[in-house]
Amino acid sequence: PQRYSFVVASNRLPVDRVIDPDGTARWANSPGGLVTALEPVMRANNGAWVGWAGQPDLQLDPFESDGISIVPVPLTADDIRMYYEGFSNDTLWPLYHDVISHPQYHREWWDSYVQVNRRFADAVAEVSEQGAVVWVQDYQLQLVPRMLREDRPDLTIGFFNHIPFPPYGIYSQLPWRTQIIEGLLGADVIGFQRLADANNFTRAVRRLKGFPTKGATIEVPLIDESVGVRAHGPIPEGKPFRTVIARHFPISIDADSFEEMARRPEIIERARQIREELGNPERIILGVDRLDYTKGIAHRLKAFGELLRDGSMTAGEVTLVQVASPSRERVEAYRQLRDEIELMVGRINGDYGTIGHAPVSYHHTSYPRDEMVALYLAADVMLVTALRDGMNLVAKEYVATRTDDDGVLILSEFAGASDELKRALLVNPHDIDGLKHAILRALHMPRAERRTRMRSLRRRVFEHDVAAWSSAFLAVLTGNGHAESLQA
Ligand code: G6P
Repeated sequence: PQRYSFVVASNRLPVDRVIDPDGTARWANSPGGLVTALEPVMRANNGAWVGWAGQPDLQLDPFESDGISIVPVPLTADDIRMYYEGFSNDTLWPLYHDVISHPQYHREWWDSYVQVNRRFADAVAEVSEQGAVVWVQDYQLQLVPRMLREDRPDLTIGFFNHIPFPPYGIYSQLPWRTQIIEGLLGADVIGFQRLADANNFTRAVRRLKGFPTKGATIEVPLIDESVGVRAHGPIPEGKPFRTVIARHFPISIDADSFEEMARRPEIIERARQIREELGNPERIILGVDRLDYTKGIAHRLKAFGELLRDGSMTAGEVTLVQVASPSRERVEAYRQLRDEIELMVGRINGDYGTIGHAPVSYHHTSYPRDEMVALYLAADVMLVTALRDGMNLVAKEYVATRTDDDGVLILSEFAGASDELKRALLVNPHDIDGLKHAILRALHMPRAERRTRMRSLRRRVFEHDVAAWSSAFLAVLTGNGHAESLQA
């Protein structure tokens, strides 16, 4: 097979295989921020992307898409049920998000997770040239770094965890807690969103493996095969260990592309139209989330409903637009959540709506990028109430879109973004009174204060975009591994 010097692995490929209702298959781009950031690095360095095409049982040969080499990894229907829906999204996802939903521990799901991680590691090893740089993404693939180190000690291996890493008291529930730590320690650099996540990880390493840690550096003994074999040659005297760096690198978005879209006349016009379609309310509040129990959508609806009940605002004045994009719909916790949220929306609209107007404009769908930008532009208040979130890119997208320096961001302190976006109105979404207070404050905030806050938020988002994120990570990675640095 063709071999590459820079290989990215993630559960999902940046392109999705979609089967249309008439049965024809096509590739749909899912142009997330990650691809945008890595595209230039891929082109400059002979790069490839290894991942799953989003459908069961597809045996596909590697191919090119928009100049990126794509290496598909097949998953069977059983793999999807046990590795993806099961272990990744019904064990690790709730465990890593503060057990908001109960994690399910099933040994056969774990076996499937090991098997699929092995398949990914083999696929990466097969397409990586001697001395290549490999970057493994997210919680679905935590065993891949160690598997790769065993098979290919010549590689420089990075890992980035896009979701939180939980405190030890929670993490230690996991029956396979040691194996996961060993899997990750196969990497040269392990990246997290927040400093707190990196600290939780190093604490777990000390508790479970007893390896010494000095700040962000972990000393992994070279003779300990539980974390993968070392490269070649004798063990250097005085340094019988390999250093693994566990640090935080907060991810971001391609801010320029959001700003560029926000300046297009047709998108500005669409934003005006959206207001009109909603009946020109005085204020629009917006929520945009995957329909996930970590997002605190119920807390948001509760606060909004109570404000209407108390008479602190009226349905004619304020509309809440909630976009809830379908996600992981075969996992029971997600089905229950959908029922719960739609019941609440129905109640609020039933209690406070009129024939011509519903206070909550609810959409169970995902919109294309340009419609999202128009919505951000139309929204006076953006409401992010996650109970736990690795970063929350929606908050950053809203900020990047507001070229008019207007709009108020209400942001949960449990989202990683709150470490950076300090001039948002920070809230604890569990505190419903505090949340109601913040909503009222946002609705009544004077223009001058909105401008000062938004300017400060925008400065942060534009200075620290996704390209800055990936180059910071890759610089630390090539500095700690034995690869030469990549072309920018
Ligand atoms: C989160 C995870 C990603 C995941 C995405 C969508 O952002 O960090 O790894 O791809 O959710 O979830 P899905 O299960 O549809 O891939």
